[in-house]
Amino acid sequence: MKKTESSARPVGAFDSGVGGLTVVKAMREMLPDEDILYLGDFARLPYGNKSPDTIIRYSRENLAYLQGHSVKAVVVACNTASAHALSVLQKEADVPVIGVIAPGVEAALAASRNRRIGIIGTQGTIQSEAYQNLIRRSEPEAVITAVAAPLLASLVEEDWLSHPATKLILEEYLAPMKAARVDTVVLACTHYPLLKPLARELLGPDVVLVDSAQNAATALARQLESLGLKRHSQKETGQITICVTDLPSQFSRLAERFLGQKIGEIRRVTVS
Ligand code: DGL
Repeated sequence: MKKTESSARPVGAFDSGVGGLTVVKAMREMLPDEDILYLGDFARLPYGNKSPDTIIRYSRENLAYLQGHSVKAVVVACNTASAHALSVLQKEADVPVIGVIAPGVEAALAASRNRRIGIIGTQGTIQSEAYQNLIRRSEPEAVITAVAAPLLASLVEEDWLSHPATKLILEEYLAPMKAARVDTVVLACTHYPLLKPLARELLGPDVVLVDSAQNAATALARQLESLGLKRHSQKETGQITICVTDLPSQFSRLAERFLGQKIGEIRRVTVS
């Protein structure tokens, strides 16, 4: 296929649910010409407490679905799937596959002054040590406080973004980071950017909050540019198509909040 034909194809992205739309929002801002095909695997949410084998299987199926729709690149817009499955997907895919972990680590290392870094994510992401290992590779002396927060993604999916219960639970999860005097906290789950205001309130203004969305979008832009796959000078902005494996009742409202714009038709699909 010629480069021009390839560059006209959409970029694919997937997550277990609505969280990956934070990454899509950043992609839309950075690459407004691109069509984006998003897959939210609601039927099998949450990913965060499942075994690596299961996450690899789900991720392979999500990749196959997106490749079946002729995407030119895939963003794994889920930290848990990036932690367990990225290297497998990169080996097997016919297109470039970009995860959210390396871009998040890069941003955290650039932000931290005291090398005391907090990471909050799902059980799977924290137990995989993907973030910890990547940070230590560049900064062996870094003091890392990693906290698994299994309750948070569900609270976000419930839209309990400023609910007192969410505040109490987040406070509990962030306590070890405060005690460790971290100056940077990686929000290592694509659901968490919506909890930023609450985290900011609990941690104070001096702690830098890093979320993977912006950095993953930058990594994608670099990759498309270097492969000559970037879509240029379209008359109108690209389209965002949202596919889900199940449709929760609050989805549209929450998706619009995550995406920061109105969403059109939502397609219900099967991936396995
Ligand atoms: N959004 C997923 C992540 O970034 C987690 C949500 C879930 O547990 O499914 O890890």
